Amino acid sequence: MQDIGKANLRKVAVIGCGFVGSASAFALMQSGLFSEMVLIDADMDKAQGEALDISHGVPLARPINIYGGNYDDIVDAAIIIITAGANQKPGETRLDLVKKNVNIYKSIIPEIASRNCHGTILVVSNPVDILTYTALKISGFPKNRVIGSGTVLDTSRLKHELGKHLSVDSRSIHAFIIGEHGDSEIAAFSSANVSGIPVNEFCELRGFYHHEKSTREIAEKVKNSAYEIIEKKHATYYGIAMAVKRICEAILRDEKSILPVSSYMDGAYGIHDVVLSMPAIVGKDGVEMQVPISLDDQEIERLKESAETLKKVIQGIEF
Ligand SMILES: NC(=O)c1ccc[n+]([C@@H]2O[C@H](COP(=O)([O-])OP(=O)(O)OC[C@H]3O[C@@H](n4cnc5c(N)ncnc54)[C@H](O)[C@@H]3O)[C@@H](O)[C@H]2O)c1
Repeated sequence: MQDIGKANLRKVAVIGCGFVGSASAFALMQSGLFSEMVLIDADMDKAQGEALDISHGVPLARPINIYGGNYDDIVDAAIIIITAGANQKPGETRLDLVKKNVNIYKSIIPEIASRNCHGTILVVSNPVDILTYTALKISGFPKNRVIGSGTVLDTSRLKHELGKHLSVDSRSIHAFIIGEHGDSEIAAFSSANVSGIPVNEFCELRGFYHHEKSTREIAEKVKNSAYEIIEKKHATYYGIAMAVKRICEAILRDEKSILPVSSYMDGAYGIHDVVLSMPAIVGKDGVEMQVPISLDDQEIERLKESAETLKKVIQGIEF
């Protein structure tokens, strides 16, 4: 049984040191959250090279020991971040990556499970909901300790777009993207607000009245932003690196922050045995509980459809 009390709260492991893993490691180095970070990659030179490069910024930030290592080094890590796997090529959906990345997870997760690890697994590779479910099934870890970065990035993108549209600090916006981190995700506008003012009312304060058209356009832009970035620069990594840092901060500092991470659905909204994103309280035990934000009928319907999309993919996987 995992027990965070036995993990070294100052240690983090990053498995997969490509664009996402290295950008996340760079963000974590600057955060000052950890004093030890082990980087692991199938390409050992890559892990060691990234460790060296990022280490050279340490004297300009805060002390942390960063090194390329192997699975024996992750045993006492408080958080094990997995970014290993193929990324989307232009035109590919996240679900297109299933086969390749499930196979990679079938090699990585047993390495973690076979050691006496007490940390939380944070899945970042795509399709993140499917791989979080895979990690949960294979590892045998408790449900609260296997989470995915989910729609934390998409929610940040939504806040960014709304902030630009309304010319207001994006941190004053309370809104969530829920469901799959992918094409069936849902922008939960019915509960969105700007410092307590319902988003449509705030739009009117700022002189915007075509709510349906604007919200549809913003939700589409958010959903398609990864495709747009991949088309232009072939990978996305800075936004997700900040999302990874934010989730680690919530866990490490036991903040009990409400973040839309992917976690196991055990009956909320009638959805069972699938992993997707719902706002959840995140602290030292990983996901403490999901938060049932109020959704309108259409959003609930779409959430159920999103769960069905993911379930169909899960049914095709042999664990
Ligand atoms: N969750 C999100 O919001 C989000 C955002 C961006 C990218 N991603 C996903 O993150 C993943 C990584 O993307 P990237 O751009 O960094 O890809 P990348 O190709 O740059 O890096 C992948 C790394 O994984 C390593 N790797 C492959 N198999 C491995 C194994 N068995 N063990 C250890 N390391 C292994 C590779 O050597 C490589 O260094 C992709 O699945 C991508 O879709 C997720």
